[in-house]
Amino acid sequence: MDDERVKTSSLVWSLVGFVATIGLSLGAYTVGQRMSGVSGEALAGGAAEGQATQVSVNGGELFALSCAGCHGAKAEGGVGPNLAVTKSWALPVFSEAVLHGQAEGRTLSSIMPHFADTGLSGEPATPAQIEAIHNFIKSL
Ligand code: HEC
Repeated sequence: MDDERVKTSSLVWSLVGFVATIGLSLGAYTVGQRMSGVSGEALAGGAAEGQATQVSVNGGELFALSCAGCHGAKAEGGVGPNLAVTKSWALPVFSEAVLHGQAEGRTLSSIMPHFADTGLSGEPATPAQIEAIHNFIKSL
């Protein structure tokens, strides 16, 4: 009888452990997905410079997925700094910071990813995407 109880309770605990593990992995997976960038759909549209095509790149979405985790949903700052100052940056300066971690001659902390290496959502980041993100920040 006691044996049976011990067995049952250890079975219950291993189930609890199992369920908790799945829960944690799912959580990590979801965060990983969010950190890794935009959905394939937004990328699939292609980016025609300066033309109003169907959603090619969505700066807000890209920012939410790839930047907001560190810079805050409104670029107000978090792990990374408030990005308001970058509104006045020329696009090439902004791109250099985002792609290569160089801002106005300064090497940014390695906490800031080099998106030229990591890509956005696993695809190489395109100039149109960087511009869309910059425009999104400017619109805040
Ligand atoms: C893992 C956290 C993290 C993510 C994700 C991240 N950043 Fe950063 N970012 C930082 C940190 C930390 C700094 C500050 C580095 C420093 O000052 O040395 C920074 C600095 C910057 C700067 C320079 C700001 C300045 O005033 O010098 C820009 C621009 C920037 N990030 C844009 C972005 C954009 C756009 C994205 C998304 C595509 C992004 N970051 C994603 C952490 C992050």
